[in-house]
Amino acid sequence: MRDRHAIIAALIVFFVVLTFPIWYARAAGTTSRGPEPKLPETEKTCVMPVEYMRASHMKLLLTWRDDVVRRNVRTWIAPDGKSYKASLSGTCLRCHANKAEFCDRCHTYAGVTPYCWECHVDPASIKGSGT
Ligand code: HEC
Ligand code: HEC
Ligand code: HEC
Repeated sequence: MRDRHAIIAALIVFFVVLTFPIWYARAAGTTSRGPEPKLPETEKTCVMPVEYMRASHMKLLLTWRDDVVRRNVRTWIAPDGKSYKASLSGTCLRCHANKAEFCDRCHTYAGVTPYCWECHVDPASIKGSGT
């Protein structure tokens, strides 16, 4: 009887050690699959192919900014012919309305802190204020 208890205890310890990476990631709020940004539910495609966006969304944002600030051009035509208003808060965050679970989740994971929000506004943060 004693032996059986010892074996069961040993099995439990073994199992916990074996599955350590899984529950450790759970407890830390991360998963082995990466940051898992929460995608828009009602939209199917981004303004550019998703591979481009994943790697180069910051370049596109800077293009939009330069168009607006330096050239006073506020409309951007995508390669597929669709046109968008060149706006961080007005266009990106209209689809990606959950900045915290999309942009921030990824940036926290990657360890980047874009300084844009010192001036630009996350529309979700002012909801309910009447604006
Ligand atoms: C019309 C709605 C819409 C707009 C506007 C939009 N997105 Fe997206 N975005 C999406 C959708 C939908 C996906 C997921 C596409 C897919 O999985 O094929 C996506 C994907 C992405 C991804 C890749 C996410 C991943 O899974 O790796 C990034 C980064 C991104 N968008 C950033 C931006 C930025 C920055 C802007 C503004 C310049 C923007 N998006 C504008 C709808 C939009
Ligand atoms: C799939 C993950 C992912 C998502 C989703 C994502 N980003 Fe990023 N973003 C990154 C990574 C990684 C970098 C750093 C890339 C580098 O330095 O080359 C970055 C960098 C940036 C930068 C440049 C910051 C700097 O200081 O260089 C901006 C601006 C930016 N992201 C805006 C956004 C916005 C706005 C959204 C949401 C609409 C968003 N990103 C969503 C992964 C993501
Ligand atoms: C010091 C304040 C400040 C910071 C920081 C800042 N911007 Fe801007 N940005 C502005 C102002 C002011 C405009 C012009 C607004 C207009 O004319 O509509 C602008 C315009 C833009 C536009 C086009 C207009 C719009 O509605 O979005 C984009 C895109 C943009 N910025 C992207 C960025 C990105 C990306 C970052 C961070 C990497 C950033 N900005 C950081 C002040 C700032």
